[in-house]
Amino acid sequence: ANASSNDASKGWQKVGTVKELDKNGQLLVENSPIGAVLVVGTSKAAKNLMAVNPTCTHEGCTVGWKSKQDKFVCPCHGAEFARDGKVKQKPAKKPLKTYLAKIEAGSVFVKT
Ligand code: FES
Repeated sequence: ANASSNDASKGWQKVGTVKELDKNGQLLVENSPIGAVLVVGTSKAAKNLMAVNPTCTHEGCTVGWKSKQDKFVCPCHGAEFARDGKVKQKPAKKPLKTYLAKIEAGSVFVKT
């Protein structure tokens, strides 16, 4: 084991700032090192943060987050996904890929 490596921080990728997240209650990053990521939530309820790959599992459009309805909606053919990524409405059949998310020192991190 290499004592100088910080294992605790491994696997967490910074995707943006808390300021960006809190502005709209969501943070979309199209080109993060782990691909497209959509984080939803705010720092006020950090334990409820959710992150998904927003690429629709139907034909690959980018889904949007509807906070009032608590779901992701695809603009292309109307597929809907719950906050945990599960399909709520066809034509999508597979769930969105989800990630753990956290806030630390003013930044938003997603677990790869
Ligand atoms: Fe999302 Fe078709 S690409 S519903």
